[in-house]
Amino acid sequence: MKLKITVLPGDGVGPEVIEQALRVLKAVEELYDHKFEFDEKPVGGAAIRQAGSPLPVATLDACLQSDAVLLGAVGSPEYDALAPNERPEAGLLNLRRALGGYANLRPAISYRPIMDCSPLRANVIEGADILIVRELLGGLYFGEPRRFLRDAEDGASAFNTMRYCAEEIERVARVAFVEARRRRRKVTSVDKANVLETSQLWREVVTRVSKDYADITLDHLYVDACAMHMMMNPRKFDVVLTENLFGDILSDEAAAITGSLGMLASASIGGAVDLYEPVHGSAPDIAGRGLANPLGAITSAAMLLRHTACLEQEAQDIEEAILTVLEAGHRTQDLDRGSSGHSIVTTSEMGSLVADALAEIADRRFAYHAV
Ligand code: IPM
Ligand code: MG
Repeated sequence: MKLKITVLPGDGVGPEVIEQALRVLKAVEELYDHKFEFDEKPVGGAAIRQAGSPLPVATLDACLQSDAVLLGAVGSPEYDALAPNERPEAGLLNLRRALGGYANLRPAISYRPIMDCSPLRANVIEGADILIVRELLGGLYFGEPRRFLRDAEDGASAFNTMRYCAEEIERVARVAFVEARRRRRKVTSVDKANVLETSQLWREVVTRVSKDYADITLDHLYVDACAMHMMMNPRKFDVVLTENLFGDILSDEAAAITGSLGMLASASIGGAVDLYEPVHGSAPDIAGRGLANPLGAITSAAMLLRHTACLEQEAQDIEEAILTVLEAGHRTQDLDRGSSGHSIVTTSEMGSLVADALAEIADRRFAYHAV
């Protein structure tokens, strides 16, 4: 299998975690005999410094000509004073829009070897496995008009627009129902239909679309109740389908089930080119010190192999390699709970442990097939 991947390390811890994801992808190339072509380009603050824009034309062109994009993180306190449309984050939002992936898949899983990392009790999170399907190109993030009115006579004011059309809701709902078929066949649609018109439309459309998926159970929750139930009883969720901002918030909350935001991966699919990124941000406070957890980025690489390349076996083997390394007691500092029996490793040590574990898993598989 040949794949052309544009790599956007971005800001903060982005470059460190992406380096480890690439190490694992290169191991996959070698072990499973694939050919991946990597093309690295700047995005976010790094691109503002190099090219004066958070999403330079050359970066976007390279992304549009590839099979998939793997991004680290964007955002830097250096640019906090800039207007929203000039900040590093604008580069990411424009990239998402240009690539067209409207369905953002964010798995939040309780991994047995790191269950103690969650502040939630083991008997609450054990076996929890949620897939958040976040609508990524609509709602408040992109709604027009939007404005910050600084010089208004009666003091400053600002507004954003939350707008959804039926078609935008329908296409992401279909992704959620299809994903549910690969899982436990349950979709919880999350909205605020007791207050918002956009949510009333959301509920209406999701209910209509669900008729095409009679084998999937659908229920609805208000977002505030969902935030609570996710912590009280995460096991009751399978696929959570929601709009852009609610999904942004709920996916960070869901990280508490896993125990660290550094573990979470995401895929943005449905558009011209799929985009993969860890959920954690640029974490400027720990950047460049080998403290970042690369497992979110490595899991994002596994999602890339699964969704864009249909390399299910390779994706599963990476996930198994990660579990093997965690079971052996290796942890990055975000997973350090001061308990004994763990070795605290750097970002690159974690990457090489996963690559080594993968090599063993692959060797076993090929040895088995040879007999
Ligand atoms: C995320 C991030 C982004 C978002 C930011 C960096 C623009 O929080 O991917 O969840 O809000 O979508
Ligand atoms: Mg977020």
